[in-house]
Amino acid sequence: MKISIIGAATTKFGELWNSSPRELAKEAFSSAITQANVDAKKIEALYVGNMLGGLLGHQENIGSFYAEELGLAPVPAFRLEAACASGGVALHNAINSIKAGLYKTVAVLGIEKMTDAGGDLVASALMAAGSDEERGSGITFPGLYALMAQAYMAQYKISEQDLAEVAVKNHYHGSFNHKAQFRFPVTVSDVMKSSRIADPLKLLDCSPVTDGGACLIITSDGALMSKKGVSIVASEVGTDTLALHKRSSFTSLRAAKEAAKRAYAKAGVSAEDIDVAEVHDCFSIAELIALEDLGFSEVGKAAGDVKKGKFTRGKGRTIVNPSGGLKACGHPVGATGIKQAIEIYEQLMGTARDKQSVKNAKIGLAHNVGGSGAIATVHIFRRI
Ligand code: COA
Repeated sequence: MKISIIGAATTKFGELWNSSPRELAKEAFSSAITQANVDAKKIEALYVGNMLGGLLGHQENIGSFYAEELGLAPVPAFRLEAACASGGVALHNAINSIKAGLYKTVAVLGIEKMTDAGGDLVASALMAAGSDEERGSGITFPGLYALMAQAYMAQYKISEQDLAEVAVKNHYHGSFNHKAQFRFPVTVSDVMKSSRIADPLKLLDCSPVTDGGACLIITSDGALMSKKGVSIVASEVGTDTLALHKRSSFTSLRAAKEAAKRAYAKAGVSAEDIDVAEVHDCFSIAELIALEDLGFSEVGKAAGDVKKGKFTRGKGRTIVNPSGGLKACGHPVGATGIKQAIEIYEQLMGTARDKQSVKNAKIGLAHNVGGSGAIATVHIFRRI
């Protein structure tokens, strides 16, 4: 069954103090449905990726909340929560519902409003995605990824400057993205001088706290598809332990490797075939691990590859994080997975404007991770 994207839009990402979650959702949905050129009555179900609506916004019952707000009620509406992979998991479930023959055309919304709360509250709410055993120690997500960074640095003998190269690449890409939270390039020295958050991670190694919304309209209805479009050819999910201390490795994510292996098999492609990818760089170390888990770099070699420009626009063959990634574009946790899919859609359609990083790209991939790797989704897209 062919499932295609027919509408895709995000809001600006950043500290959007003037916009409520309702407004962000409406903005993303109305742009996506206009682009799809279909009547909203064609939408048979709504899938919402959201993590913190309850903990930060005191709003649960999220499926119905947005179905009402977007004028879609009484269609079935569902909230999918999988920490920072909520968007990817919402897309996965939307695709499966179409494959199961329940619906033909559905909307998938990713939404998060984080900046209205104070930093301590946000850090503690995010840690709800961690393991209960580790949370009790007071560790935060920057702390968990810092442990992974220390293990990786010791195992593969890379430096803090090597880690910083990821931020340099992604801030460079983000400087072309008019919707990104941070549009400024940075140097290795800027990263090194930025404040220490959790050793060895510094401010510029971290994704920020962000507001944003993103919406996709996907369909299996041939009558709604145009001749030129993008199909979703694989949608896979993997899981692992929530606790880091229960894992055999700190330097790769079993959940992501598993999802990637199955997605490549389903799509009938390999890492070498991917023209463009959005990967989950919540911290600079996360991108190095992602590049290896996805097979874009050999194990232990990702930092060297990033430094050589293997994934940089204008230099590399497979461009990684043309949006600026979570680092520069921002990371509104429930929206990120949908934004990644939208970025790949635009790159494949050739509609990414200033951030267009690949010409004539045919195959793209989106990799979305929840927690410190307890869940991961991999989607593969093909231009038709
Ligand atoms: N990258 C670049 N600049 C950042 C930034 C980031 N990640 N986070 C904040 N800033 C900037 C702000 O824009 C602000 O700039 P200004 O002074 O020019 O206005 C300045 O740094 C201070 O911002 P503030 O909000 O006070 O920072 P903070 O110290 O409270 O928060 C972090 C910084 C890194 C702790 C926070 O961004 C964070 O927790 N990030 C990780 C989020 C996370 O864990 N997500 C889930 C991933 S699994």
